[in-house]
Amino acid sequence: MSRLFLFRVTLACMVVGFTAAAQTPASRTLIAHRGASAYAPEHTLASYRLALQQGADYVEQDLAVTRDGVLICLHDESLERTTNVEELFPDRGTLDGVTGRTRWLAADFTLAEIKRLDAGSWFDPKFAGERVPTWEEAVQVVGDAAGLYPELKAPALYRARRVDMARVFSDSVTRLRLERTPGKLIVQSFDDQVLRELAALLPHTPRTFLIDNSEGARWLTASGLKTIAGFATGIGPSKLLIDQRADLVRLAHATGLTVTPYTFTTRGPATRFADVRAEMEYYLATLGVDAVFTDNPDRFPRDGAR
Ligand code: G3P
Ligand code: CA
Repeated sequence: MSRLFLFRVTLACMVVGFTAAAQTPASRTLIAHRGASAYAPEHTLASYRLALQQGADYVEQDLAVTRDGVLICLHDESLERTTNVEELFPDRGTLDGVTGRTRWLAADFTLAEIKRLDAGSWFDPKFAGERVPTWEEAVQVVGDAAGLYPELKAPALYRARRVDMARVFSDSVTRLRLERTPGKLIVQSFDDQVLRELAALLPHTPRTFLIDNSEGARWLTASGLKTIAGFATGIGPSKLLIDQRADLVRLAHATGLTVTPYTFTTRGPATRFADVRAEMEYYLATLGVDAVFTDNPDRFPRDGAR
């Protein structure tokens, strides 16, 4: 049986609320976080292609909406960290009243303007000329080789601008026929409201509710998990939240939720583990999580190898 077949069967089970994923060793699932972003500039086609070469089951895309309503793959709300927008559009930044910093929000630029930006040089000059991909371009590049794991970023920013991000996204899923293949698509967000909207718009698409350290106490209780199960099919806690709570994975599974912690990487601070592969193995085998987000797909312990 092929690995691709196994993970699609597992995801098909998740769609109907069956939670056998954690008990099936073959189901351990690798999500390439922003592509193979330890080795190539995040959210570029180069990073997605490398993730596929390294055996990703899913490739993650963080999504933003341009001024002309196009979904693009970008982690931050703004463009200055990962592109040369300051150089090309020096007068188009806006002052952030909270931080006092100037930002170049993606929502203030058209797709044509964003396509002029270099999204690779900041990472390494050898990636000069990489562009910010659209969501549709990412879907095309991933093709049938893996699944898609998009995150709707900053829905509140778009709400304030009267842009219905859930609707923009669900329209694209329908247009691209992504709901036709069980397990092809899992959507995620830190924003519970947008997941509630997607539960109505895309009822057959699994939904992972991301939880950061500041939100753990609010959501990671028996009653909080029950509430989550009303609008999501899984949780995506920071890995720290799981490490502190040995009972959490069992409790989430008992509530019918999958567990997918973030982010396993060689680019972060040192951990207590020998390396990132040993860290992922601990979460998968000892804590029993279903899947992991990692910047290092090539280090994923596919068969439990350390
Ligand atoms: O989506 C999982 C993980 O990517 C959440 O953190 O900031 O990398 O999007 P972030
Ligand atoms: Ca993300």
